[in-house]
Amino acid sequence: MSEPRRILEMNAFDNRQGGAGPVARRLDNLGAASVLFYRAPIEMVSAQGAWMVAVDGTRYLDFYNNVPSVGHSHPEVVAAVSRQIATLNTHTRYLVAGVDTYLEALKARLPSALSNVVLTCSGSEANDLAMRVARQVSGAGGFVVTETAYHGNTALVTEASPSALKRTAPPAHVVTVPAPGREAYGDDIAGGFARAIRAAMAELDARGIGTAALLADSIFSSDGIFADPPGFLRPAVEAVQAAGGLYIADEVQPGFARTGSAFWGYARHGVAPDIVTMGKPMGNGFPMAGMAARPEHLAAFCEDTGYFNTFGGNPVACAAGLAVLRVIEEEGLQDNAQRVGARLKSDLEEIAARAPRVAAVRGAGLFLGVDLCAPDAPGTPDAAFTVQVIDAMRDAGVLIGAAGRYGATLKLRPPLCLSQAEADRFTEAFAGAVLP
Ligand SMILES: Cc1ncc(COP(=O)(O)O)c(C=O)c1O
Repeated sequence: MSEPRRILEMNAFDNRQGGAGPVARRLDNLGAASVLFYRAPIEMVSAQGAWMVAVDGTRYLDFYNNVPSVGHSHPEVVAAVSRQIATLNTHTRYLVAGVDTYLEALKARLPSALSNVVLTCSGSEANDLAMRVARQVSGAGGFVVTETAYHGNTALVTEASPSALKRTAPPAHVVTVPAPGREAYGDDIAGGFARAIRAAMAELDARGIGTAALLADSIFSSDGIFADPPGFLRPAVEAVQAAGGLYIADEVQPGFARTGSAFWGYARHGVAPDIVTMGKPMGNGFPMAGMAARPEHLAAFCEDTGYFNTFGGNPVACAAGLAVLRVIEEEGLQDNAQRVGARLKSDLEEIAARAPRVAAVRGAGLFLGVDLCAPDAPGTPDAAFTVQVIDAMRDAGVLIGAAGRYGATLKLRPPLCLSQAEADRFTEAFAGAVLP
């Protein structure tokens, strides 16, 4: 049987190997916390659109990075950031019109009830705050998460990120449920997932902790990408809300138009989050993230606890964020994600039908997961083969990573500006790596 794998270790350089040249220099500087992709890491020097360029001049098609979502070094984002940093950069203790302009543009994309936004510097900070707000509002202490979830790196959020815990199970206030896929729930994903959530809440009650929130990535990225059928989240979310818990939609990965049919991942499920957290693509690489909540929920939290974030929501971040929203709109990137993503998915399904080691293709828009399996055993995930495919794709000039409980799901998250020709390039490299 395949063993569960931790997300940061999938096809990563192993620090215990030591290294020479730039790798040794990195290890000297960053030590044990250094995480490098590939067993033979790549030194990058520049990037534009969907392409990254290594120091030796090799160009790589980037199917891994969901942060530079409107394209690496997008000129509008670069110009907006450059202009603002040359004019004014300060924290949020002064009135700066551009900050409110950005927040109003962002809120136009969010449910009207979530009309207060706290800007932070990382998705981890956003989830940390969301969890604390949920505890305050619900009066309960527990969280339900999926079993291979990743939500960030603060102490509180790491406890709710089973994929980051190397030696221990989550603490008593965190109960996990299997990811919403066929493997766990068969054909009734909505019903099975809701039953699992109810059982997890009952467990938290039995422990005397209660449920503060269901914290769920709306496309279950590190669990292996589970998007379908649209709407499957609804019974689970309603069960949590009916019991007095909050639903925190972690949009750090699926947000900002990536899933194509909707701007946010949760919207595909027709659910109403109590809190939305966001990050990664929000500033196209400029570090920014945020939490949107109901004013009364945020007020309840702030009555007991002060919250200030020195860099969160600074004018440069807001300039980057506004440029990102504008580019998504002007360049029709949500529509592009849907169109190019749908064609890519069907091309991959066509390859899967001919490739015995491709077990399944899942996802929405330009966020796809491809399960790889042992020869002639579609039910047996194969992490070693996945690493082999990732390395073969790299040799073919394509960057891609893995996710999922067993590290046997390729996760495809190219920039939303991906052209059909670039998608075809990926498909060709993938076919070369998996077809017998
Ligand atoms: C779903 C999800 N939530 C939260 C985070 C944390 O974001 P950050 O790394 O910006 O702290 C991540 C990071 O990978 C993530 O994938």
